[in-house]
Parts: sequence; structure tokens; C-alpha cells
Amino acid sequence: MNQSIEQLLDSTSVIPVIEITDLANALPLAQTFYDSGIKTLEIVLRTPVAIDAIRLISNNTNCLVGAGSVLTRSDAHLAKEAGAQFIVSPGFTPKLITDCESMAIPILPGVSTASEMMGLSERGLSLFKFFPASSSGGIDALKAISGPLPHLSFCPTGGVNKSNFLDYLALTNVKCVGGSWLAPSHTIIAKQWEQIRNNITETLALLDQIQL
Ligand code: 3PG
Repeated sequence: MNQSIEQLLDSTSVIPVIEITDLANALPLAQTFYDSGIKTLEIVLRTPVAIDAIRLISNNTNCLVGAGSVLTRSDAHLAKEAGAQFIVSPGFTPKLITDCESMAIPILPGVSTASEMMGLSERGLSLFKFFPASSSGGIDALKAISGPLPHLSFCPTGGVNKSNFLDYLALTNVKCVGGSWLAPSHTIIAKQWEQIRNNITETLALLDQIQL
């Protein structure tokens, strides 16, 4: 039986959102994350090399690789063929949900309104990307949503960073968070692996404080 998105992300608290522009950076970056203690990665399909980066990382590391910024069936299909184990989309269409179900690949669909959440809940989904988190009301919005929709959980992304991710994770309806703060694009382009390692170490140390 296929794993649900909840099962797949069960032990994940932080998902780095990663944009790779140079394929040569894919493996050193993925290995930096893996060695530093973050094994779930979202590679966004916003560059010509993104699918090849997913393939390289899937074939050569033990990272759990997802494809982000997925908009169409074709995106999802290419990502799955390359080894992606889950799909992340900024929003959703009913067709994209059906397409991912038919391909048997879990999807973390983006939502920002109660109506979108209710619609997907009716389809049996219960874990969503809350996007764009900060401009959609951030922590206050997620707290408000937990009243009428207590059965739903979220991965807030968009404006989540080192300074606020613990506040999001403290919410009962936040399962994990996503963001680019661990490996901003300019640090990847400049191959600043040490800087990225420090970002990861710092984030995991902060996470340890609330998990004691
Ligand atoms: C995205 O899809 O771009 C993510 O939400 C990352 O957002 P961030 O750069 O604000 O972390």
C-alpha cells in the first residue's frame, strides 16, 4: 500500500525548500543536508536542471526527495520518474490531486483559505502546505483555523525562517514547516556548504530545545 503524505513526513519537522540552478551543486548540497541531520528535501521545479537534480539526489543519497512548485500532471510525472517520493504544490487544482492519486504519489497541496481546506478535506486529505504562510495570516490564521477545522494539519511555508519557525511548530495544527532559510539560493550558487551546514546546525539546535 502507498504511504500517505502524513506517514511519509511523520518524522520530518523542517523541510528545506531548495532551488538548484547548477546540477553540479545537487549532490554536495544534498550530502550537506544529510550529514548535518536533515534528510527530507524539497527541490523546486523552477530551473531547467531541477528534474535532473532530483534524479541525481534520489539515485545517490538516502535523502527523502520531494518535488516542489509542481503545477501540472506533467511536472508530477517527470518528478516521480526522476525519483521524487512526494509532490508539493503552491496551490492545487482538483485535476492535480486526481493526477497524483492516479500516479500513486503523495501530494502536499498548497492552501490558504478555509474553503480550500474544506474542499480537500472532503476528498480525504488532511495535511496541507499553508502558503504563502506569512502573508496569509501566519500564526494567527493557523490558530483561528484550528477552531473549526481541528482535524487538519499544516506545513506553513513562505516567510517562515530561523526567527519564527519554532513559533509555528508550537501550534497544535502544525506538523512541519518549510522554507528557504537553510539554503538560500545565493548560498547554493556560491557553493557555501559551510554556511549552509551552520544554518542547519543552528536550526536543529533550536529544534532540540523544544523537543527536550
Ligand atoms: C517557496 O515555495 O518559495 C517557499 O515557500 C519558500 O518560501 P521562503 O523563501 O519565504 O522560505
